[in-house]
Amino acid sequence: MEVTPAKPLHVLSSSQFDRPFLDHMCQLTDTIRRFDKSKEGLMYLQGLLAHRRAMLYFTQPSTRTFLSCQTACQILGMGTNEIRDSSTSSERKGESIEDSLRTFSSYVDVIIMRTPVPGLCDRIANLLDETERPIPIVNAGSGPDEHPTQALLDIYTLNRSFVRNGGIDGKTIMMVGDLKRGRTIRSLSGLLSNYRDVKILFVSPPEFRISDDLRQKLQQKGQKFEETDQFTDALRMADAVYMTRVQDEYDTNGESKKVDSRRFHLKAEHLPLMKSTAVIMHPLPRREELDVAIDTDPRARYWRQERNGMWTRVALLTKIFGVDRKIVLPEL
Ligand code: NCD
Repeated sequence: MEVTPAKPLHVLSSSQFDRPFLDHMCQLTDTIRRFDKSKEGLMYLQGLLAHRRAMLYFTQPSTRTFLSCQTACQILGMGTNEIRDSSTSSERKGESIEDSLRTFSSYVDVIIMRTPVPGLCDRIANLLDETERPIPIVNAGSGPDEHPTQALLDIYTLNRSFVRNGGIDGKTIMMVGDLKRGRTIRSLSGLLSNYRDVKILFVSPPEFRISDDLRQKLQQKGQKFEETDQFTDALRMADAVYMTRVQDEYDTNGESKKVDSRRFHLKAEHLPLMKSTAVIMHPLPRREELDVAIDTDPRARYWRQERNGMWTRVALLTKIFGVDRKIVLPEL
């Protein structure tokens, strides 16, 4: 029997995930991928949530997150509706965003949303909790603030990459780029304190250093980290290099152009400096910070990371609707 939790499981911030949850998600995602190996397995997944519908409300540009969420729904047999531009909804007629989202909740069973407005997902989740249809909200990116489902897929990718090498515990994770406004950085770095002895090396031009509130949060959690602009020194020490692009959509005055980020670009010439066991990740989209020549290096994981996103989101949806218990491989 399907279990519908009394209160919906909203996915709003990576800070809501603890180690048991992360371990469970990694295991669940691995198992789900085994179902992908056969027609019967895929048909089984398609039956799990065929009676559920999702709204994809994405009012900020998105390729991977949108498509992987939509495909994850399809894998589980869910129907999807979408809005990708608020100018095509009644917001254009002056309807408040709260009323618009409450309207979606009348028709679907989960809302997956990406928005430029930090805190909006939390606000909507609280609002819907007070209505007669309190459905789950999944934050698929909220301005420069949070990207919890990306953090889950990043953890899954790290975990898989280090599976024969002691797991994430004890690793040095280097994060590079626009650390100030990159929501993937905020969500992922917050999760690493769930692992033992992880060290984060934040590498950026001074203008793009992590924000004060993130610095404080990490200190409070006892997370070991260093902030530096010594790109090549950090590269030599890193077990994982997590590259990010400049988030210039949040510029107020074209200020990104004034920052010289070239010293922080990963190029093929850097590859010999890195550990042979290191992995290279990027949430994508990339620009010049990650040379395409690196794509063929066995340490490049970003294309797999992208695909892992789909499977992680399948796992998350099964968890949200309480059908994760049905993801069990038949005894051989
Ligand atoms: C990231 C995002 O939207 O924050 N992309 C993604 O979801 N994979 C990173 C970015 O846009 O730079």
